Amino acid sequence: MNLRDTLKINSAGVLEIGGAAATELVKSFGTPLYVLDEDYIRKVCRAFVKTMNEEYGDGNVCFASKALSCMAMYKLIGDEGLKADVVSGGEMYTALRAGFKGADMYFHGNNKLPKEIELAVSNGVRIIVVDNLMELPIIDSIAKKYSVLQKVLVRVNPGVEAHTHHFVQTARADSKFGCSIALGEADIVIDAVKEYSNLDYHGLHCHIGSQIFDKTAYIIAIDKMTSFIKALEDRGIITNELNLGGGFGIYYTEEDPKYTVDDYSEYVATVARGVKSMIETKQIRKPVLTIEPGRAIVGEAGITLYSAGMIRDIKDIKKYVAIDGGMFDNPRYALYNSKYSAVIANRANAPADEIVTIAGKCCESGDIISKNVKLAKVEEGDIIAVFSTGAYNYSMSSNYNRNLVPPVVLVKDGKADYIVRPQSYEDLVRHDVIPARLK
Ligand code: LLP
Repeated sequence: MNLRDTLKINSAGVLEIGGAAATELVKSFGTPLYVLDEDYIRKVCRAFVKTMNEEYGDGNVCFASKALSCMAMYKLIGDEGLKADVVSGGEMYTALRAGFKGADMYFHGNNKLPKEIELAVSNGVRIIVVDNLMELPIIDSIAKKYSVLQKVLVRVNPGVEAHTHHFVQTARADSKFGCSIALGEADIVIDAVKEYSNLDYHGLHCHIGSQIFDKTAYIIAIDKMTSFIKALEDRGIITNELNLGGGFGIYYTEEDPKYTVDDYSEYVATVARGVKSMIETKQIRKPVLTIEPGRAIVGEAGITLYSAGMIRDIKDIKKYVAIDGGMFDNPRYALYNSKYSAVIANRANAPADEIVTIAGKCCESGDIISKNVKLAKVEEGDIIAVFSTGAYNYSMSSNYNRNLVPPVVLVKDGKADYIVRPQSYEDLVRHDVIPARLK
């Protein structure tokens, strides 16, 4: 548990988030339920924006909305002065419907569809992040159609890959994303951009990984990126913007550091100072600096509340606690073997003296939320809160086994509101059709 002022255990021993007791939330909204702490999201957003302004000046903080895309989220981050990174027509449409301006969006993707590019260009999307050579003529022709000079960043692969607890420098060329600097692909794409009259080379983008705590990985990436900017400048090509992507880690289990909002400020400051010092040393023109945090903005703001159901104690081997959710609301164990911490929300002070595996209700053995979680002795009907589920849980949910995607509520000062309403069984069959020949 990485508790804070808006995520704590109250005097009755109940987990409280955003001023609302988990037991009350469950009474009002049922389980499974995604809960988001509005104050925490706003605090992290403010820390990122303030530090960027103070330490760098000309910078953008852009929410990687793949972490959590729903209309209220775009409204919230817009209020806090963040821009948004979108990776599909669907995310772009959701943002636009929430009143988010195209001028504040970055559009990414390794295979942007022509109709998605058209949605971007026709809505004045600020930057399209180009991933490869083949998309240049498509973006150019759509920009021509709308008489737009489309700003593009070129996504490069600087040869630095970072993961939670380590990073590697590698000239790996087998990434699905971006053009390798080392192999000369980046130069080729940048030179090609210049050939298109409706494309404007604006700068560079890289993203070195996700769930990163090792700041050195960023410093090495910054070194490589600024050296590349210098080489381009020597060829007369000016880079106006440097986007370093996202990747800032969060607390899931005891294996991760417990960052406070101030620690995130320090993290951003390290990156900003790193860029500043290297542009001074290398004497290059100061680019606008952009970062794209996703997980750090919403991950720890979210918890998921479940009801405990069947308990299967395989003597001396394993104890399963099955909950009323599963890989349809959180596929991260199935995908990445991810780990979570949890608590019995209605008895949050009870000593956590058991090790259990929290299992979902899907027909699949890999349908686990987390293995080896420390919990107090669970009884059927207990409310289990799984922490740090704000990022990449709702956004990767599905209707697998025709389970319903849980609703999302946003809580502030004890008041909870739906930001994503519950699904119904009727929603599940809404798009189903039985063709006449089957009738
Ligand atoms: N920018 C780009 C270009 C990205 O590809 C990503 C994440 C981000 C920013 C945001 O990274 P963050 O700050 O959230 O680490 N589904 C996986 C995470 C995939 C991240 C992909 N790209 C998970 O559940 O862990």
